[in-house]
Formats: sequence, C-alpha cells, structure tokens
Amino acid sequence: MMDEPDQTGEDSGLVTAYDYAVTFRQRKHALDATETAEDLRKRFCLKTPETGRDGAEVIRDLIAAAEPGLVANTDPNFFAWVMGGSDITGVAADWLTSIWGQNSAIFQTSPAAAIAEEAVAAWLLDMLGLPSESSVGLVTGATMAGFVGLAAARGAVLSRAGFDIEKTGLQGAPLIHIFICNDSHVSNYAALRYLGFGEDNLVRVPSDEQGAMDATALRDAMAARQGPKIVVATAGHINSGAFDDFSELSRLCQHHDAWLHVDGAFGLWARVLPEKNHLTQAIDLADSWSVDGHKWLQIPYDSGFAIVKDQQAHRKAMDISADYLNHSLADGRNPSEFNPELSRRARGFAAWAVMQAKGRQGIIEAVRRHCECAAEFERSLLLNNRIQICNRVDLNQLVLRVDDCDQKTAALADYLNASFATFVRTTIWKGKTMLRLSVIEKSTNKETMMDLKQRVLSFLG
Ligand SMILES: Cc1ncc(COP(=O)(O)O)c(C=O)c1O
Repeated sequence: MMDEPDQTGEDSGLVTAYDYAVTFRQRKHALDATETAEDLRKRFCLKTPETGRDGAEVIRDLIAAAEPGLVANTDPNFFAWVMGGSDITGVAADWLTSIWGQNSAIFQTSPAAAIAEEAVAAWLLDMLGLPSESSVGLVTGATMAGFVGLAAARGAVLSRAGFDIEKTGLQGAPLIHIFICNDSHVSNYAALRYLGFGEDNLVRVPSDEQGAMDATALRDAMAARQGPKIVVATAGHINSGAFDDFSELSRLCQHHDAWLHVDGAFGLWARVLPEKNHLTQAIDLADSWSVDGHKWLQIPYDSGFAIVKDQQAHRKAMDISADYLNHSLADGRNPSEFNPELSRRARGFAAWAVMQAKGRQGIIEAVRRHCECAAEFERSLLLNNRIQICNRVDLNQLVLRVDDCDQKTAALADYLNASFATFVRTTIWKGKTMLRLSVIEKSTNKETMMDLKQRVLSFLG
C-alpha cells in the first residue's frame, strides 16, 4: 500500500510534534514536575470540548500543559523506583507503530506485527538463556507478565489434579497452595488477587536479610501441605536486587510437582553477564518468568514479556477465540493467544528496533555498566562511617541510610531532590527508612555516580 504522501501541507500536529520531539532529549530538564497538581489541572481540565480545533494548536497546547508536569526518568541522574529511560530508536519505532495504526490482535490483523513479535520472542529466549520451546506474550509490563505466568500456572497445576479451570472456573476447584515470599513485589500479590487468590490464603514465606526467600522455610512449608502448588520467586528484589536460591527452589518444585514462577522484572537481565551467573543458576528450570522491556532494555513504555515454558498451558490460560477471528496458525502466531488482550498495540516493533539497535553486546554493556556503577558507588562510601549501605550490592540496586537515622536519611533524599539535579525516593524496608538508588537509566555512568557521591558528601558537610 504505497500511496502518494499527503501533499495538503496540513500539519495536524504531526510536524509540530516531530519538531518538538527531536530536540526534547537534547535539552536539560528539571528532574521533577515544576508545577503543582492544581496548576496542571488548570491547563488540562478544561471544559468538555464541544467543537474540534486545529491539530497543531492542540499539540502545542498539550506540550505546554504537560512539560511542567513531566518527570525526567530519561535523565541519567534519575535513580528512583526502577525505571528505564526510553531508548531513542525504540521511540522512533514506537512513532511508526502509531503511524501504522496496526491492531496486533491476530496474525491477519497485522502480519508484520505478529512476525516482529516472533522474532523478539526468539531473541529474548536466546539472550536470557531460557528454554527455546517457551512461548512469549508481549504485555504492558511486569505486572501483567506476572498475571499471565500465574494464570498459566493456575491452569496447569489444576489440570494435573484433574480439574479444568478454564472450563469450570474457580468454584469447586481444589485448593492451590501458593508460596510467596513476604518481601515479594506488590505486583505479584496483585496478580494473584486478579486470579482469585486472596491474600489470606497465600503461604507467606519469610525473607532473609536481603529480601530473598528463605529456602529452608519454603521446604518446610511445602512439605506440610498436600495438593497443587505454585511458588512465586524473585530474581532482583525491588530494594536490594537480591535473588532467590533457584537451585534449591527448582529442586523443591520438581520434588512437589509444583509450578515455579519467577518475577525477574529487571533482575532476569543478570543472565547476560557471565560474572553474575551465580545469581541465576538453575533459573532456567522454572516454569514461567516475567520480565520488563521498559526497565533494563529501555524499550518505551509499555513493554513487558510473559514467558511460559509450557506453551499449551500459556495458550489455554489466555485463549480468546471466536469464529470471526479465523484463528489459524498456518502463517504465524496470533499475539492475542499469549496475553490478556485482543485489540492491542503492536508492541513487537519497538522491542524489535531496540534489540536490533543495541544488539546482545549493547545490552551486556549497559547491564554491566549499571552493576559496576552501583558497586563502585558502594565502595566509594564504604569508609564513610555516616553512611550505611543496607544491602549486598550484587546488582544495580542500593539502599542506604545516614547515621542509621530515619530523619537524616529522609533529609538526604530531600536535599538531593531539592537541587532538581538528582531524583531519588525513599522507602521503608525492614522497618527503617532507606534511600533507594536504582542504577538503570540508559546513560547513567561512572561520572554520574561521582557527581551523586559529591552531592551526598556535601549534604554530610
Ligand atoms: C521486581 C519487580 N516486579 C514487578 C514489578 C512491576 O513491574 P511493572 O511496573 O512494569 O508492572 C517491578 C517494578 O518495578 C519490579 O521491580
């Protein structure tokens, strides 16, 4: 379909957006929003529009309304939560995704989108060293990836117990014992709730001092229960970056015929570094894995991957078929068979472009750089007796305190944020206030960390 380009000269907002976008990343921005919610409401919450208006003008107004409320997670000095910074080639592919306007529900609605997903799935399994027979659903993020993996788990362990959840629903289903670490990411608890598992019915396994699941406690808890079992494990704890003991967890799961799901939202990428092999030993023996695309891969939001070894269980859990959809796998996969959406963004294009632009070596370089940055930052502060690094820095995550004091730790965060040159957040972990540093933004490097260290030292005076 190669038509003549539209020659009317009308902008409709596209040219305005393009001109703005190509210079946006070259400018330095305040790291946090500079306007209050009330100010932003004045710009956004206008009267219900009754008549339309010029597209370019709308885009100019959108820019003016949004910019003071943006948070610069595309800046190397951004260390809050665990966020990627939208790789620019991925952004370009994301624009094309919108321009093409494809609906990647099934193969027929966009063959190119479906095949791009096939390619991404194969590269992902290869790079992460996961079983090549696994199927991959391209979802919105790790929360949905966890939901998909655990939906497949629910169906599979019940099917082994002679029960068809997809047909009968949860009513009357045998009890499933779900073992989850008390320090597991909140999204896993949410995914389990969406799947009909209330928090009171989960077996909460205690964590060790790093936030990893206590494998001995898991062993005892599993031994004490009969019936279908699912274990929810973590590769890369949200605060400490800690990894569960996958050799022991996979052994226990094999022994109990249990399904092992791994939340590896960012930590699964440790797989690409030979020097971090010890962290993910035996992780490939799990049954499903969730990993984000928008974190360490820096694919623009929204991007996550639900990986399931048992392709049949994956498909059965996400099945969405109707006669008019003409599901036929003759040509290629139907993306909607692997995630909980029918109409959906063609997520494969941006993922394909980022993986091509970086290549395996580019991904390794970034993951290694971030881990080294975190380790060096830790080393540089080890002799400072006013700073306590509260985790073992195995990956890219640091949690620290000042003078072992909640107030002083919060004051350091306020000090760093006040300059608008660093963006950090605190958390309460193990009952104490801690400053969290997640070194993951695409261009954060050793110089960025030196600057941060200087700011910390100037706070200490
Ligand atoms: C370990 C872990 N699991 C799950 C999630 C949820 O990911 P998302 O926000 O992409 O849904 C996160 C997000 O930071 C995470 O760090």
